[in-house]
Amino acid sequence: MKKKIVIANWKMNHDFYETTSFLRNLLKILLDKKINHKKKVIIAPSFPFLQISNQILQGTAFSIAAQNVHQMENGSYTGEVSASMLKSIGIQKVILGHSERKKYCYETNDILLKKIHISFKYRLNIIFCVGETFFERERKEQFTVVKNQLEETVFQCSSEKMIDFIIAYEPIWAIGTGKTATPEQAQKMHKYIRTLFIDKYGEKISKKISILYGGSLNEINAKNFFSKEDIDGGLVGNSSLQIEKFLKILSS
Ligand code: 13P
Repeated sequence: MKKKIVIANWKMNHDFYETTSFLRNLLKILLDKKINHKKKVIIAPSFPFLQISNQILQGTAFSIAAQNVHQMENGSYTGEVSASMLKSIGIQKVILGHSERKKYCYETNDILLKKIHISFKYRLNIIFCVGETFFERERKEQFTVVKNQLEETVFQCSSEKMIDFIIAYEPIWAIGTGKTATPEQAQKMHKYIRTLFIDKYGEKISKKISILYGGSLNEINAKNFFSKEDIDGGLVGNSSLQIEKFLKILSS
């Protein structure tokens, strides 16, 4: 069976002290086996703390992801961070396509496809987010919307690039709102996404792809989500910021 994956997306939270002390405490608790969990853990802190976070987790089973990367190789893009920069400090993973970046930074599918290509070039493993808005779900368009998002981005890539690809289904109406999709709604979408991967890349690859749920996932509801057949773990925002809650999610 595939190992479940839990990713903490800290967004623009936790300063240097909070980041480092969280990670040191997390390691201490998990290595002392104070809680039992069998999940693959990935933490996505803010850019300035990627390197120190990576150093703290060096030699452990936990890893670090960046929350974004710029689509260009290098050049005059003030304030941006390139894939080669991430790679040069040992970062192996990147989150792409988060709905907050689409909303606040106007990332389109065209830009995301460029980000996917540059990430491949520098061998960054991709965690790619998809999901519909509240109105799209009201109009029952969620499946078409997610299909289009994938067709214009991930599905432009060949099958050999799909190794270690992670998809995160994050219904936008459930992010940071306290409203979650029901585990059944999420399972339905995850199964649909898996079917799209079967149609595009075949059964073998589709089984390897991990599809995570994100959107108001917490220490109380995580177990229900993780029990569903096509939910391979979670991408957690708010509830990953407090160590007690995060640990409960890991042991769910
Ligand atoms: P919340 O868990 O705060 O709803 O955020 C989900 C998310 O956006 C993770 O990327």
